[in-house]
Amino acid sequence: MYGSNKAVTDDTDRTEFRKTEKKYKLYYDQNSKRKKQPKQVDLSEVLDFKSFLDSYHQNGELPPEIVVVDCRLDRPVFGLESRPGFYFIPGALSVDEQCRWIRDSLMSFPQPPNRTNHNAIYGPISDLFAAVKERKVLVEDENMPVGLDSGSNGCVGNEDTCRWSFCEEDSVLSIGRSCKSVSASVLLRKLRWSTLGLQFDWSKRNYNVSLPHNKIPDELCQLAKKLAAPAMPMGEEFQPEAAIVNYFASGDTLGGHLDDMEADWSKPIVSMSLGCKAIFLLGGKSREDPPLAMFLRSGDVVLMAGEARECFHGVPRIFTDKENAETTTLELHFCDENDILEYIRTSRINVNIRQVF
Ligand code: OGA
Ligand code: MN
Repeated sequence: MYGSNKAVTDDTDRTEFRKTEKKYKLYYDQNSKRKKQPKQVDLSEVLDFKSFLDSYHQNGELPPEIVVVDCRLDRPVFGLESRPGFYFIPGALSVDEQCRWIRDSLMSFPQPPNRTNHNAIYGPISDLFAAVKERKVLVEDENMPVGLDSGSNGCVGNEDTCRWSFCEEDSVLSIGRSCKSVSASVLLRKLRWSTLGLQFDWSKRNYNVSLPHNKIPDELCQLAKKLAAPAMPMGEEFQPEAAIVNYFASGDTLGGHLDDMEADWSKPIVSMSLGCKAIFLLGGKSREDPPLAMFLRSGDVVLMAGEARECFHGVPRIFTDKENAETTTLELHFCDENDILEYIRTSRINVNIRQVF
């Protein structure tokens, strides 16, 4: 499901969802003489909720398919006539809020006991972002035993090795070629996900409640409760128990999937977009249903509840070029934090918060 980039060569196994993914995915022009140029795509059919919001504010008009479903927040919540249970809140997060969650997504969310895609290879990694700033390198200690299930040094589970630790770049050079190493900046670029609260086990595709975990940070919990309200059954409050943070670099995609591991689908998934603009595809209950494409910008929030939870969805594209990424405001806010600035200019972060039980 996640990061499924398998090239489809045979037209016959291509569903409507796959066809639309392919249409929007990043490809490079083969015969361009200049530097790699992204292939042009026709974006005229991509729904743009920012422009719907502008038009709604100006004259109260909306395209036929778009409806206002809630006015309890300080901004309209839009829905799609054909997709009950799907909610779009354009610009739900202020720029300060976006900056805060970007900072946390980089500095605090990947911290153990939260797991990341790097756990399987390197074991738990602490302070990755600080190590990037300090130009450190993660180095393997070959004298440490592999796969020891030791509680004392923070290792959990036996795929976590704890053989790896951060060192100064110079000290690695002096050790020579013999030991395996990887720079912190490469690890940050290859960070694809981290999990908060109850830890999701990708190999078994379920929540593993026995893995050590912290509660979802309180402020994120409060924010998710507020944002989830339009999609909650009357009189009930959303209970955030787990969150998945997805990190996208240029060319990364999130293949079409369903989030079906939570017990109660009447509860929404609260999904926040940060950083570069992306295209989100919302399909139907079958991969054969042609999906709708829409832009997701930094600060947008999407809710999926009820019937919409049975709809295939994914992210075939993020935009990292200056014109389409729309990160200028964020860049101004991070002008004194060069490492965050460099990261967010060409990356997207998605935080999606779930009630599991
Ligand atoms: C997910 C998901 C959407 C996004 O993580 O399950 O659907 O906007 N993310 O990245
Ligand atoms: Mn999903």
